[in-house]
Amino acid sequence: MDDARSAGLSNDQASYRGLRHWIEKVDDLGELLRVDNASWDAEMGSITQMMTEKSRGNAPALLFDNVPGYPQGYRTLYGSLSSIKRVALTLGLPLEHERKADIVQRYYDRMQNMELIPPKIVDSGPVMENIMTGDDVDVLKFPVPRHHEQDKARYIGTANCVISQDPDDGSYNLGTYRNQVYDAKTIGCQITEGKHGRIHRDKYFERGEECKFAILVGMDPLLYMLSASPLPEDVGELDFAGGIRGEAIECIKGPYTGFPIPADAEIAIEGVARPGKVKEEGPFGEWMGYYSDDSVPRPYVEIKNILHRNDPIITCAPQHKPVDETGLLKGIAGSAEIWRSLEACGLPDILGVWNHEGGPATRFTAIQIKQRYPGHARNVLHVASNCQGGAYAGKWTVVVDEDIDASDLDQVLWAMSTRFDPDTDIDLILKAWASKRDPLYLPGNFNNRILIDACIPYDQLLKGVFPPVVDVSKELRKQIREKFSHLPFPRD
Ligand SMILES: Cc1cc2nc3c(=O)[nH]c(=O)nc-3n(C[C@H](O)[C@H](O)[C@H](O)COP(=O)(O)O)c2cc1C
Repeated sequence: MDDARSAGLSNDQASYRGLRHWIEKVDDLGELLRVDNASWDAEMGSITQMMTEKSRGNAPALLFDNVPGYPQGYRTLYGSLSSIKRVALTLGLPLEHERKADIVQRYYDRMQNMELIPPKIVDSGPVMENIMTGDDVDVLKFPVPRHHEQDKARYIGTANCVISQDPDDGSYNLGTYRNQVYDAKTIGCQITEGKHGRIHRDKYFERGEECKFAILVGMDPLLYMLSASPLPEDVGELDFAGGIRGEAIECIKGPYTGFPIPADAEIAIEGVARPGKVKEEGPFGEWMGYYSDDSVPRPYVEIKNILHRNDPIITCAPQHKPVDETGLLKGIAGSAEIWRSLEACGLPDILGVWNHEGGPATRFTAIQIKQRYPGHARNVLHVASNCQGGAYAGKWTVVVDEDIDASDLDQVLWAMSTRFDPDTDIDLILKAWASKRDPLYLPGNFNNRILIDACIPYDQLLKGVFPPVVDVSKELRKQIREKFSHLPFPRD
């Protein structure tokens, strides 16, 4: 019996509503670790890193309580998505998967077959249990962590949802963009060029107008996952979340912004950024594993009010040298978007996509295909490395054959070592969309990247002249498993 069943959860019963119910379910799965007495000052972030870095997708979620200097019940949650089961729970998918690429495929199939459901506006909800406005606003009422030892400041927003509105069509975007705390009433919001929230803010500023934000810093992990996913610009994350749930997300109207705020959110901060008003932001330990970020003046947010539940929970996701707690999120959500783009471009026989956690993310993406025609592999490489979900800050894109599991790094390395010729199987892309978090970004904030065709050369495949692989055949494996069923074979 698998863990989920023994805990009273079957694969298809494991659904939940809201962060608190999610925590209960995770506790039932045996994947919640409660930690008392950790300081907000680098201890919570460090404990999470030490529990996650070598966990191979099985780290617990960490719920910190009794933070020194703060009331009991004022909690932080780290590592929400650092196990495959918890990502599956969050997306409403079966909890067990053979290959990591299988969960990507199921998520991708789900995306293709669901209707978007817009949020439903309701009059009130738990997020309105406490409302701070004017002089009462104090963001440090909560145990806001300094996540890494060399961060200059405390950051209230890491696993967050920054809600912004497009001034042209009125649509809303949710993006995960970090929030540095400057003082009780002022926070930062670092949004990289090209991200949807940045496009919104740039549009207001270009018109000399202020830009309002509603920022959730504790909420359903599904909303965080979608906020951190490269969904297309015309897809609203709240509508997408409704689609995944099969019912509308209930939202109140933010008292200051008028934006939809999930009624069961833990903490929602409303505020405004003004053109030309900037403060020095960073440095902060970043997703490529370095304190590589520039510390420069960036627009900040003047807080107008804070709504929060009783005993609120801040959701956190500091990133660091891989593997960090966001590796699976980027592996699954990012890869599903790349898969979508490959098929949207008409490329056949995509069998697996995985952004490897050690990369991290699009720094190392592998795509598994059944080769159908000469040049198929190159087609796939160029689209995967330049589509919306794959383009940002990419470095290595590798295409492998159908017998190589794209989500198994050992197999991908073997293909790169035996089916790839450095003279003919490389393409370079120059001056691509980069990130200043990359220690090697080029002047002008571009980067160069490499495409690797690690597939068997197509003509050799056709002629059947590439040497056969040394492996136990499927038939013999089956026979042996039956005859020696008492042996503790790992899964194929
Ligand atoms: C934990 C975490 C923190 C992130 N922090 C930032 C950030 O501070 N700024 C940023 O531009 N992107 C950040 N990202 C990446 C964006 O959330 C991601 O690119 C997302 O697709 C942006 O949403 P958008 O596509 O609607 O712009 C972060 C991602 C994660 C998982």
